[in-house]
Amino acid sequence: MIGISRREFLSGSVALLGAAGMKMPLWARLVGRDTATSQHILLGVDYYPDQTPESLWEEDARMMAEAGITNVRIAEFAWALMEPSEGKYDFAWLQRSIDILHRSKIAVILGTPSAAPPPWLSAKYPDIVEVDEHGEKLRPGGRRFTCPTNATYRRLSVNIATEMARRFAEHPAVIGWQIDNEFTLGSSPRCYCDFCRAGFQAWLRVKYGTLEKLNESWGTVFWSQHYSDWAQIPVPLPSGADPNPGLALDYGRYQSVANATFLGEQLSVLRKLCPHHFVTTNNVGAPYDEIDERELYAKVDFVAFDNYPGFFEMLLHQQGKTGSLLGAEIPTVVAMQHDFARSILRKPFLIMEEQSGKAGQRTFSPQPEKGQVRLWTYQAIAHGAMGINFFRWDTATFGAEEYWHGMLNHDRSKSPAFDEIVQTFRELKALGPEFLNSEYEAETALYFDYDSAWAIKIQPGHYSLRYADQATAWYGAMSPGHTGIDVIGPRDELSRYKTVFAPVLYVLSEEQAEKIRQYVRGGGMFVSSFRLGVKTESSQIVRKPLPGYLADVMGVTVEDYAPIYAQAPHVQFGSELAGPEAECGIWADILKTSSASVLASYSSGSHAGKAAITMNQFGKGKAVYVGADLHPRDLARVLGQITAMAGVKPVLNVPPGVELTVRMSGSRRWLLVLNHQGEAQSISLPTGHKDAITGKTYSGSADLPGYGVLILEKV
Ligand code: GAL
Repeated sequence: MIGISRREFLSGSVALLGAAGMKMPLWARLVGRDTATSQHILLGVDYYPDQTPESLWEEDARMMAEAGITNVRIAEFAWALMEPSEGKYDFAWLQRSIDILHRSKIAVILGTPSAAPPPWLSAKYPDIVEVDEHGEKLRPGGRRFTCPTNATYRRLSVNIATEMARRFAEHPAVIGWQIDNEFTLGSSPRCYCDFCRAGFQAWLRVKYGTLEKLNESWGTVFWSQHYSDWAQIPVPLPSGADPNPGLALDYGRYQSVANATFLGEQLSVLRKLCPHHFVTTNNVGAPYDEIDERELYAKVDFVAFDNYPGFFEMLLHQQGKTGSLLGAEIPTVVAMQHDFARSILRKPFLIMEEQSGKAGQRTFSPQPEKGQVRLWTYQAIAHGAMGINFFRWDTATFGAEEYWHGMLNHDRSKSPAFDEIVQTFRELKALGPEFLNSEYEAETALYFDYDSAWAIKIQPGHYSLRYADQATAWYGAMSPGHTGIDVIGPRDELSRYKTVFAPVLYVLSEEQAEKIRQYVRGGGMFVSSFRLGVKTESSQIVRKPLPGYLADVMGVTVEDYAPIYAQAPHVQFGSELAGPEAECGIWADILKTSSASVLASYSSGSHAGKAAITMNQFGKGKAVYVGADLHPRDLARVLGQITAMAGVKPVLNVPPGVELTVRMSGSRRWLLVLNHQGEAQSISLPTGHKDAITGKTYSGSADLPGYGVLILEKV
């Protein structure tokens, strides 16, 4: 059976996952012990009955069922239809649509519509509108133009979510919820309005307790900014000069809380009224945003995010990049997004929207090559996705996204990728729930720290220094090792990883430092870049020789730190990191060893002869300081060698452009091999492996077609 009802979906999960000895998802655990034969897999589309003539709904549902689609996500932009005027609700159309879907055994994820309020709302309550980072009030007419703290907007958002929940809690097709849509999107994901200012002041009161403490933490004696009343505290809007760095960093933290609590209000209602449903929210993938996604997802059931690799390619070309980015750079960035999504809650995640055709608003990406949509699906799965929804079912013939192509063309013919998606769904169903809910194996971690990202944005030091670029570059340099990478943060446990890589960990609390110290002492390998531990959590410069709280662990002090403009010093590597002399990029930390040994030195310029990369034995572990900003090629070699020193080896050797991950469940272990190149590749294999998709057995080697995928299991 392909299509499913909520009850079948839920009880199917319990039976299948229970049988496989798996930890069951919340919505599945809640339903008890019914047995059923249906699948609990989420393989769906984002569907817009609100934008489609009702005469086509039956046909849509029939075609979806034929295509093997198990679920849709609907209604997240349909507020105006659901509440045509304040307090007057009309769900009859939605009910008819859900009934039709249900008859075709398609399950429904409902979206709450607070990402785009109707015109009556913004006209009646103009204060709900967001103020951007330049102090400009946004204007209604697009989407994501509202303030997260405005009490009226919160109330009205909760009201519509409540009414939806009341109406559909018991509908057998409805299985879960997406709250809002992409909090992290928008021209300015943070709001700077007067409501947010008041909210910020209230949040600071709780955080600091007294104004004395706040003044001291921020160092407000500088430029006469001493606050004698909470109400005097501003938000960091243009003010003739840069804001206080401590205030600016706290504002970032506060805006994350503001968005998370906005989500939290809807979450409480849904938990109460729909206790058997799962609840999530979706975001644009990259963890580079102004809003802390760890905070946003903290209380939902699983992470969901939206993945558009081809759109990404178009954007990068627009920014001047050349060449086929989809074969090399983009797969790495996308892999990092997937790894971040999985790592937030340490469990399988859902792709809420996946590119299915040409994608873009004003301009759009090319049609993905044959095989690429399937490959992107498997890439998500390879990194821990449990399901996928394609954006979107049909292609709109009106609105700002007429050119964001879906599974049906404008004339409702099948898109070029339609059959490929159907085939992929069929394959994923055959692979089954145990595989889709399996764990991901990671021996290394990338430490991604929002405080450091925001503080570097406030004071980059070098105009080209961006935390996101550094984190991506380090992830890119780690990935040829095929070791599995979790993207972790300050609250995560470090001891499960053989190596932890922490680029530009610029803000470092004593507590974070202590956790890292214990990790290295216990045998871990901690690898940092330049700008380590420069600032305290209040964003004051640490009053110690750098790297501050970690100087003992790293076994070095920073003699000088240097942004590089005209004359880039060269770096010469010692025997452990052997490789050709490299040119330093935008930054050089000049290191002086206390107990560390030198792995590379500066070989030109005024710091010639001084240490550039060091390694320190500390307790049972090692700490490596990479003081020079290295070209990606050199960084990959250096991080690869360090990974090897930590004893981490890939399970297979695969050629460049081929990705390898491992998922496991109990004693089962799958190697996922993905070819991002258009040309076939030959993979050397240990004997006795079978491809779980085709059943074909391999020994010695396997030919992997262009954009091809292998899922290898030992026989
Ligand atoms: C996502 C968004 C969707 C749609 C899609 C294509 O970012 O959630 O609503 O806009 O992109 O643009």
